[in-house]
Amino acid sequence: MKSILVLASLAIPLFVVAHREPTTPEEIEVQRSLQAAAYYCAPAVEQFTAQRKRSWAQSVLSGRPALTGYEDLFDPTVYHDLAASEQGAGGQKLLSCVEESSTEIRNNTCVLAPEVTEGPYYHNFGHPIRQNIAELQSGLLLLLDIGVIDIETCKPLPNVLIDIWHANATGYYAGHPHPAPHLVDEKPATEGRRKGLRTGYPRTVDEEKWLRGAWPTNEKGVAQFSTIFPGYYTGRALHVHVKVFPDWQVLPNNTFRGGSLAHVGQFFFDDELEAAIDEMWPYVNNPIRNTLGRTRNWDDSLNIFNDSHGPEGDYNPIFKVDKLGAIIDHGLNAFITMGINRSASYDNFWKG
Ligand SMILES: *[C@@H]1O[C@H](CO)[C@@H](O)[C@H](O)[C@H]1NC(C)=O
Ligand SMILES: *[C@@H]1O[C@H](CO)[C@@H](O)[C@H](O)[C@H]1NC(C)=O
Ligand SMILES: *[C@@H]1O[C@H](CO)[C@@H](O)[C@H](O)[C@H]1NC(C)=O
Ligand SMILES: *[C@@H]1O[C@H](CO)[C@@H](O)[C@H](O)[C@H]1NC(C)=O
Ligand SMILES: *[C@@H]1O[C@H](CO)[C@@H](O)[C@H](O)[C@H]1NC(C)=O
Repeated sequence: MKSILVLASLAIPLFVVAHREPTTPEEIEVQRSLQAAAYYCAPAVEQFTAQRKRSWAQSVLSGRPALTGYEDLFDPTVYHDLAASEQGAGGQKLLSCVEESSTEIRNNTCVLAPEVTEGPYYHNFGHPIRQNIAELQSGLLLLLDIGVIDIETCKPLPNVLIDIWHANATGYYAGHPHPAPHLVDEKPATEGRRKGLRTGYPRTVDEEKWLRGAWPTNEKGVAQFSTIFPGYYTGRALHVHVKVFPDWQVLPNNTFRGGSLAHVGQFFFDDELEAAIDEMWPYVNNPIRNTLGRTRNWDDSLNIFNDSHGPEGDYNPIFKVDKLGAIIDHGLNAFITMGINRSASYDNFWKG
């Protein structure tokens, strides 16, 4: 027995979200469309996610590192073979050590992923088109497998650009290394919606673009990235930002120009998993480790974690995470599926 893909048993507690009343016309519109979102995608979503998990398992068990870039992983014949082996004999043994837990595939992924703030660290231009966004940042290997379902057809949505950005292992964003000079000693807000938060650090280093990148979904509606597990910073639950552009244009310098913006969201991780990673190098070097510490999901400022579950708490914004090897240090594979309305067009209005 070796190289077994061990499932992290990260049970996600049943989550209930307080209904926050929308205030601005834009928020009302967003909430209206969320409430209008269909629930009929569940079986499609379930199948979609299960196929992706099996595909990864296959690659790990056959001794190939499950790094992105192996196009054949998403060769349609891979799925055919697996589907066939499931029905009959053969092949089953190989996959039997992978927990096929259909109950884990959350029904709630068939609702629209809620729109939440893009925050202060987005760069309107310059995110490169690439799958490996880590550059020279050190940290725990993290593979992201981001699936997109079209809420209007219940089908995987190919060829939409998934644009992601997140903090490094000690909680900094590329291009934003320092607080504004007059805010060096700023303390986190003690009340109101911004409770726990400091002012965002200004962009002072133009050329940095680590842990930022965009990649289109393949014909299966999946975009994969390799990166490092993010670190935390003052006031925010640990998260990965995402934007989805159905129409975009690649520029000669390998960045892109996005057309309409179909989604702005944030993804999260299980608190228990984060607690384990807190103890690992270089995460132990987080500058606020011994003072404010990591903000728990439930305590997220601006209520972003709660809002990311949607007005009725129907959406699950937490990655489902598998270990890539026998121990956590070998890295993690994180899955999430978003329901997107391809025809929706958001302005970047909601900065929080
Ligand atoms: C998904 O949720 C809907 C609405 O709650 C329910 O009617 C449906 O049976 C669920 N489907 C599955 C596969 O759990
Ligand atoms: C890439 O090219 C676009 C269009 O010419 C330009 O606006 C942008 O600043 C360039 N970005 C980088 C990072 O060089
Ligand atoms: C994260 O980025 C900051 C700012 O650039 C840098 O000082 C720090 O060393 C980086 N963290 C790690 C673990 O490399
Ligand atoms: C988020 O929701 C949970 C459960 O309803 C609640 O306990 C928590 O206080 C909420 N967090 C914030 C920041 O409001
Ligand atoms: C998707 O967005 C379009 C354009 O805003 C809207 O007309 C339609 O009702 C939305 N569909 C769903 C399922 O929310």
